[in-house]
Amino acid sequence: MNIILVNYYTPIPEDFDPEPLIPLKDISGRCFELANESFLMNKTAANALVSMIKAAKQTGYEKFKINSAYRSKDEQDRIYHAAREGYSNKAGYSEHETGLAVDLDYSGAVPDETNMLPLDWIAEHCDEFGFILRYPEDKESYTGVRYEPWHFRYVGKRVAKYIKSHRLCLEEYFEEKYGIPAKKKKLVHFDDKREKDIWDFFMEKLDNPYGTAGLMGNLYAESGLQSNVLEYYYQPILGFSSPEYTEAVDNGTYENFAKDVAGYGLAQWTMGVRKKGLLDYAKSTGRSIGDLTMQLEYLWMELNNDYPKVLEILKTATDLRSASDPVLTEFERPLDSSEATKRKRVEFGKLIYFKQIDKEQFINDLNTLSLWREDISFLLMDHDTGNILYERNADKPRSIGSITKMMTAYVLMKYIFSNNKHLKESVTIDEETALISGSPQYSGGEYMKKGDSCPAEVLLSLSLVSSSCAATVALVKHFFKSQESFVEIMNEEAKNMNLTCDFKDVIGINPGTSASARDLAIICSNIIRDYPQILYYTSMKQVSFQGRDYQNTSALLRNNTVKGLDGFKTGTTPLAGNCYVSTAKRKNHRMISVVLNAQESDERYNETECLLEYGLARSDEEI
Ligand code: DAL
Ligand code: ZN
Repeated sequence: MNIILVNYYTPIPEDFDPEPLIPLKDISGRCFELANESFLMNKTAANALVSMIKAAKQTGYEKFKINSAYRSKDEQDRIYHAAREGYSNKAGYSEHETGLAVDLDYSGAVPDETNMLPLDWIAEHCDEFGFILRYPEDKESYTGVRYEPWHFRYVGKRVAKYIKSHRLCLEEYFEEKYGIPAKKKKLVHFDDKREKDIWDFFMEKLDNPYGTAGLMGNLYAESGLQSNVLEYYYQPILGFSSPEYTEAVDNGTYENFAKDVAGYGLAQWTMGVRKKGLLDYAKSTGRSIGDLTMQLEYLWMELNNDYPKVLEILKTATDLRSASDPVLTEFERPLDSSEATKRKRVEFGKLIYFKQIDKEQFINDLNTLSLWREDISFLLMDHDTGNILYERNADKPRSIGSITKMMTAYVLMKYIFSNNKHLKESVTIDEETALISGSPQYSGGEYMKKGDSCPAEVLLSLSLVSSSCAATVALVKHFFKSQESFVEIMNEEAKNMNLTCDFKDVIGINPGTSASARDLAIICSNIIRDYPQILYYTSMKQVSFQGRDYQNTSALLRNNTVKGLDGFKTGTTPLAGNCYVSTAKRKNHRMISVVLNAQESDERYNETECLLEYGLARSDEEI
C-alpha cells in the first residue's frame, strides 16, 4: 500500500479512497469495546489492530476500548469544533478520514506490576503490527498536534519499524524518504496564562504548592483548565457546541442547566445541586456561567462549605500524590477512580507543579529529598544550549563506579565509526571475559562461555543497560585488544573535552577513578551529540541475551517515571554511593542531569526526577 501523509497543512488528496472500510463491531473474535457500535476502519488496518490487541491481551492487559476510528468529513468537522485546541485537525486534514487511524481509550486501565499501562505496551510494540504512535510528545512542533498517547496510525510493518527505530515522526520520515520538508509549526501555548492565573488563585488561598498542583491536575483532566466547555458526549445530545451552550444559559433561552447532568466548566460539574449552585452564584454576581474567576470562586466556596476534609489535605499536603488522590475520590467522584486514573491525574499535576514552582521551592524539594545533603553532587544541564541550570558540588572529584562505562562507550563509538568497523560485527568471548562474566564481583551476571559469540551491539546494550562488565571488556578487547591502552585513550579524550576526570579502568571497578558531576554531564552531552544512535540502546528497558532478559538498572527508565527519559547510566559502589547520569527529551528540548553520592538508590531517582522535570518545564527560561 502507499503510505499517505496527512497533517495540519497536508489535506487528504481529493481522490483518496479509504475503502474497503469494515464495521469494527462485526470483526470475528472481537477483543475490544467500542465507544460507538457504528465505527468503521480500513480492512487491513483493522486486522492489524485486532492482532495487536490480541497480543497485548496475551501479555496480560485486559481491557481495550476504541474511542474513534474512521470519520467522515462531517464527523471530523464536528469533532474539530468541539475539541481542545491543538488536539484535532480540521475536516479534510485528519488521519481519521483515511480509515487508517484509531484512538484507543486511555483511562480506566490498570497498570501491571512494572507499572506499565496497556497503552505503554501498545506504544512499545505497535511497530510489530504496522502501527506508529502518530503524535509523540517530543514531535509536537512537526506534527502540529499535542501529544496523543492514544492515537495510532497504520503504516505497515516495514515503515513502522523504521520510524520507531530511527525515532522519527511521520513528517520526518517523509522528509527523509521523499524530500518533503518537515515544516515546524509553533503550537500556541494556549493555556499558559490561564494556568498561571489558576495557580496564583489557589496558591494564595491554600499556600501549598502540592495541594495547588494536586487540585489543578484533576481540573486539567476534567476540562483542560477551560471554564467554558460542555462535556463532549452531550454536545450532539443537547444540540449545542460549548460556546452556544454558554450563551444559551447566559441569556436564559436554555433553562435546563441544573438538570441536564452534562459536565460543564473547570471541574466539569455534573450533579444537579452543584450545577444549580454554580448557576445561582453566576447570576447573583452578574457574570457569565463560563467565567473563569466566577468558577474559581465557586469551587473555593464548595471546598470550604462541603469538603472541609479535602481542603485540609490540600492545605497541609507534603507531596503531590496525597493531595491529588482525595480530589478525585472525595471531591470529583467520577465513575472511574482506578489506580490508572489516579496516576494520570498525578502526572498532569506534576507537569503543572514543575512549570509553576519557583526556584526556592525547587531547591526546597531537592533538600527534602536529599538525605545526605552536605555531600551530594547535582548538576542539571540544558543539552541544546550547554547552559547549566542548577549545580551543587558540581566540580568535586568523586568515585563514580559503573558510570565509567559511559566514557568507555564514547571511546568505543568513536573508534568504531572512525575505523570503518561496525556494531553488527560478531564478537567472540575469550577466557578472561568468560571468567569476569561468571564472577559475582563484577556487575552484569551473565554466564558467557569461552567461544560464545554475539553482535557487538548486543554487548553494547548489555554494557549500558544492565551494566555488564564482561560485555564491556569483550568489546574493548575485540575492537582494541589492550584494556590499558584503551584507558589511556579515555584519559586523552577527557583532556580533549577539557575535563578533570581520571580513569583507571574501562568498567568502573577501580576505586581510583574519579570525575565531577560537570565532567559527566559533558561526556553525556558529547556522546549524544556525536553518536545519537546510542540512545537506541540506552533506552531499552531490558536486553535479551542467550535466552534471558537483563533489566535496565535504572528504575526511572523501567517504570516510565519521567516522560521522554531515554538513557543514560547508573553507578553504585560503597565509595561512590548511588550515582545516576540521565537524559530526557521533550518538545525538542533535551536535559541532562547528574546526581552523585546519593545515600539511597531511591534518592538518586527522586532527585533526578525533580531536576529533569524542573528543567524540562522551563528550559526556555533562565533559571
Ligand atoms: N486528533 C487528531 C489530530 C485528528 O483530529 O486528526
Ligand atoms: Zn485520533
